[in-house]
Amino acid sequence: MGTITLTNNQTNESFEFELIDCNRGPQAVDFSKLFERTNIFSYDPGYGSTAGCKSTISYIDGKNSQLLYKGIPIEDIVEKYRFTDVCKLLLTDSLPKDKTESDEFDLELRHRGFLHEGLVNIFQAFPDNAHPMANLSSAVAALSTFYFEHRDMHKEEDYQIMARRIIAKITTLVAFSYRNSIGAPFIYPDINRSYVENFLYMLRAYPHGKLKHTLKGEQEITPLEIEALDKIFSLHADHGQNASTTTVRNVASTGAHPYAAISAGINALWGAAHGGANEKVLIQLNEIGDVKNVAKFVERAKDKNDPFRLMGFGHRVYKSYDPRAKTIKNLKNELDKKGIKMDHRLSDIAEKLEEVALSDDYFKARGLYPNVDFYSGIILTALKIPVSLFTPIFVIGRMPGWCAQLIEHVKDPTTRITRPRQVYVGK
Ligand code: ACO
Repeated sequence: MGTITLTNNQTNESFEFELIDCNRGPQAVDFSKLFERTNIFSYDPGYGSTAGCKSTISYIDGKNSQLLYKGIPIEDIVEKYRFTDVCKLLLTDSLPKDKTESDEFDLELRHRGFLHEGLVNIFQAFPDNAHPMANLSSAVAALSTFYFEHRDMHKEEDYQIMARRIIAKITTLVAFSYRNSIGAPFIYPDINRSYVENFLYMLRAYPHGKLKHTLKGEQEITPLEIEALDKIFSLHADHGQNASTTTVRNVASTGAHPYAAISAGINALWGAAHGGANEKVLIQLNEIGDVKNVAKFVERAKDKNDPFRLMGFGHRVYKSYDPRAKTIKNLKNELDKKGIKMDHRLSDIAEKLEEVALSDDYFKARGLYPNVDFYSGIILTALKIPVSLFTPIFVIGRMPGWCAQLIEHVKDPTTRITRPRQVYVGK
């Protein structure tokens, strides 16, 4: 602890503000009474210097390429735990103590994976070619009409049921959103398949007959594919106060239904500056087309008269390599060796892009490195997941983080309705 003194040179008045010691990382100054005490407020577009809450969920060290979930490094998370374990960790502060507890949690989610038939019918109102993200945010908002009771949560059990319900149903909603977008009939969840396998099954299966795990061809779901997607989900599970998490918190701060807040988070994630970048990366790699064109696109990205940006590059917090990108890149190479064949043309372009950009003064000076979205699309493509589903995949991965952050926000007596000020420059 300590204080910081702010002096107004116009009036010669000085004010002391308390410093807050964070458990990790730089200190913060408590400016919550800045306006009350000084009649001056802070101006911080994009909130790069502002914390709106205290949190115990994830920690990012942007200088040293570190990401922790509940104190555990992301590399260990991906290596040792499955996604449903990570969900339990974020929601309850503890990992399953053994395989039985881990399986029980997965099974609980499977039980909750079905949708009310009324919700299934809602999909029929959407046009066939709607983007799955549009279907998804609407369907999640609609979920609040079926589980209205979650608007009033008081006991720990209330929070847990709300969170587990949406984590369970989001895979079904994503699969239905996709199948709706291609006009294909829905495949209902199969209680006998694990959380991640079930998702791939709902995406790929034919609606008739008994599909066996051993079936060869497009519908086969291999353990390696399940493991790969599981890791991708875990890598996306939480990431501090990013734009979509902040949106979830902001909407929840008004007392709105939690699924309405999460629906808003889905919309925030959709943008290309945020989770929508994973879709744009793949489109851009195809546009570059060949490693020999990489240098030309890097030049375009540096040209201030050209709006072109390298998608999957740069991050507000990381000014060094995003540890998730490093893990995804390694995963890509490992999967390729183990038999999930990557598109080598795209993979080579991406690696060349990284090499050229990282040795370029423009990128070095600005600390622009590949982020989580840069390599994920290459793996998702190898898993036969269509490009329009890349951001919905991010939604599934981020769901436990949004839920944990929302619960933390509404339980914290020090949080208030989010209501920033403005610097008025109008008439
Ligand atoms: N390509 C080229 N230049 C870039 C890029 C990029 N991808 N990203 C940032 N820059 C440049 C900016 O032009 C700016 O240059 P300047 O200082 O000369 O004006 C400087 O780097 C800082 O960029 P800002 O936009 O101020 O950084 P900010 O923190 O506001 O934005 C963001 C971060 C949105 C991620 C940005 O880097 C970007 O648009 N990246 C591409 C989209 C992307 O990959 N988004 C996914 C992020 S990860 C996630 O949300 C899951």
